[in-house]
Amino acid sequence: MITIETKRARTFLSDEEYNLAAGVINDSSEQLDKRTGKGTEWLGWQDILREPNDALLENMESIGTEIHKTADVFIVCGIGGSYLGARAVIEALSPEFADRGPEIIYTGHHISGRYLQRLIAYLDKPKADGSPKQVYLNVISKSGTTMETAIAFRILRKWMHDRYSEDAVSRIFCTTSKDGGALNKIIRAHGYRKFILPDDVGGRFSVLTPVGLLPIAAAGIDVKSLFYGAVACYRKLEEDRGNLLDYVSTRFALYKNGYAIDLIASFEPALVSMGGWLQQLYGESEGKNGQGLFPAVAQYSTDLHSLGQMVQDGKRNIMETFLHIQRPETSLTLSAESKDYDGLNYLSGKTMEEVNEKAFQGTVQAHGEGGVPVFIARIDEQNAECIGHAIYYFELATAIFVYSLGENPFDQPGVEAYKKAMFRLLGKEE
Ligand code: PA5
Repeated sequence: MITIETKRARTFLSDEEYNLAAGVINDSSEQLDKRTGKGTEWLGWQDILREPNDALLENMESIGTEIHKTADVFIVCGIGGSYLGARAVIEALSPEFADRGPEIIYTGHHISGRYLQRLIAYLDKPKADGSPKQVYLNVISKSGTTMETAIAFRILRKWMHDRYSEDAVSRIFCTTSKDGGALNKIIRAHGYRKFILPDDVGGRFSVLTPVGLLPIAAAGIDVKSLFYGAVACYRKLEEDRGNLLDYVSTRFALYKNGYAIDLIASFEPALVSMGGWLQQLYGESEGKNGQGLFPAVAQYSTDLHSLGQMVQDGKRNIMETFLHIQRPETSLTLSAESKDYDGLNYLSGKTMEEVNEKAFQGTVQAHGEGGVPVFIARIDEQNAECIGHAIYYFELATAIFVYSLGENPFDQPGVEAYKKAMFRLLGKEE
């Protein structure tokens, strides 16, 4: 499960500042519950948890298991909310090295020809035993018109048809809206298998729909535990939102006091993509009409040697949110050496987790003393259930925070600006 500890952030606020923010946040929470805020047509991310669709979970699990058994490479083709959630969960829960199942490759999230060309060369290359790679492709686009994704899909679709002829159809999975969009036309023309992202769920709130569930299942992760972890969180927060409202109130009061950056950090490298998912969830939801905290991601202790100086001692407008696993899995123990050349014998008998934990605690202390308000998101375990729990917790926190800014948490009108300019430069007809 997840709870967010706020005491090291709260000390930067007076009672008056906190109470004022808490009043606003309570109203926003009520607004969400009564469905009177902006964008109420996009609250499907709550509805799917209120009434879980077990048949869908079964289906995702069985297709995912099949792909997991057969595929050497599973390509996830999507951008923004259409891939960040899947990537976050897959990287948080898959083994880093051996026994990974299919290699998961992400594409369609940029326009680098170099990358795509090399990806195709890699797909063409046989396996070590000389046999061809077994490749499956999942294109994900709610609108079905996003250029980055559409270009990659066009190129990879051709590769799949060249390689597999008519068998390509059974290896291509498309996730999109029920109707509309170019992708639906392509699906109809070729007869690809289609999964639906409900109209009332926005991209960055969609990881618990087929958008995220299919790639996650193909990676061999238990989608039922993930989903029901989120359901448990939903039910808990319907009963008692105390911890979440305290977190959002403290964050909102700090924002009102001029803090501009929320640095999402973890001492667990496998959680960096969770940071990336949260960065998009916060950034695309909050950044409207000159408002919002700028979300950045750091991997510690690595980035303590690059960003650490800035966080400790730079401009004092940064708050930090740690994603912290309470009960880490492994226990690699350090041993003593007869000649203590590296001076590490004082650590002998300690596990890596103990050392990492002290690095975490020391950083929290130092950054706090340096003037950084610190939140600690305490996630019990690095398993599917707890990650599911964290997903809903942060989705709800986002919606409530953005209502307090007076904005719509579920749209992203600003993203259109670069597209318009790019299309004009490319000579696309209006
Ligand atoms: O959160 C969002 O809605 C966006 O980040 C979208 O997911 C992203 O722009 C991709 O859009 P689409 O799925 O329509 O290709």
